Amino acid sequence: MQKILITRAVFPEVVAELSRRFEVEHNAEDRPWPPEELARRLQGKSGAMATVMDRFDDPLLAQCPDLRVISNIAVGHNNIDLAACTKRGIRVTNTPGVLDDTTADLTWALLMAAARRIAEGDQYVRAGDWKIAFGVQYFLGQDIHHATLGIVGMGRIGQAIARRARGFDMRVIYHNRNRLPAADEARLGAAWIERERLLAEADFVVVMAPYSPANHHLIGAAEIAKMKPTAILVNTARGGVVDDAALVDALRHGRIAGAGLDVFEGEPGLDPGFLELRNVVMTPHIGSASRATRMTMCRTAMENMAAVLEGREPPNLVNVIPA
Ligand code: DGY
Repeated sequence: MQKILITRAVFPEVVAELSRRFEVEHNAEDRPWPPEELARRLQGKSGAMATVMDRFDDPLLAQCPDLRVISNIAVGHNNIDLAACTKRGIRVTNTPGVLDDTTADLTWALLMAAARRIAEGDQYVRAGDWKIAFGVQYFLGQDIHHATLGIVGMGRIGQAIARRARGFDMRVIYHNRNRLPAADEARLGAAWIERERLLAEADFVVVMAPYSPANHHLIGAAEIAKMKPTAILVNTARGGVVDDAALVDALRHGRIAGAGLDVFEGEPGLDPGFLELRNVVMTPHIGSASRATRMTMCRTAMENMAAVLEGREPPNLVNVIPA
């Protein structure tokens, strides 16, 4: 029986199903393993089912000569050195498509929470600070309906976010390296626009671009400076796509009105400046975290891994291994 490693706690059904086909070692404690421990546990393993917290770089892969597949339980795969895997004949798979709607939902939750100051209001009520029932100028926020939504990165999740804007009668503009076909733009009611114009015109800027060295600090001080002082920035894509230090500075000085963030540079650590700010709403990287979606992601990752190890083409292969 081939041996596999599951690097974090997953649903018991998934462990049970994999155990029927492979000899499974899994991380029931759910404590992230440091690189040395991960390398040690990967000895003799043909497959690894992993999360974005597990870094697979060339020095680690060099210690794992038996590894044939890394099956990420994520659509993103910036935790894996793809070139190193390809060089070593290790297939990498991900879970695209199954988390688009759930991540779009969370993006909207953060957008709305930041616009209408939901977290701030909740803290105010809980702290017992709500002494006078109603005030004309209490907790004034931004209107969402009829506003302009700007989406940077119009892949599947970006499009799911755009679809939801219809109910708010919003103008939707987007910037993407490749423009969508005209029929898709018409279906989504979204118009392509230069990035500079998007930043200047949008009331809500949603970042939905994957992390890559080219996208490092795609939104930095210069980009934030182009946004409206009333604008809100939402990042549910990846830490590092936004320059967090520049964002803290802009929020602190009121250069933009607010932010909704699910991902951070160096998470779970984050810029301590965020903690002092009331105009930011934060969640701990839970974009795809509904029970149903996380289960589907695990099942997709399981199918991908089993396919490679059982000699079939995996449904979601990220790298092509030369013959
Ligand atoms: C993804 O799928 O990339 C999410 O960020 C979860 O890791």
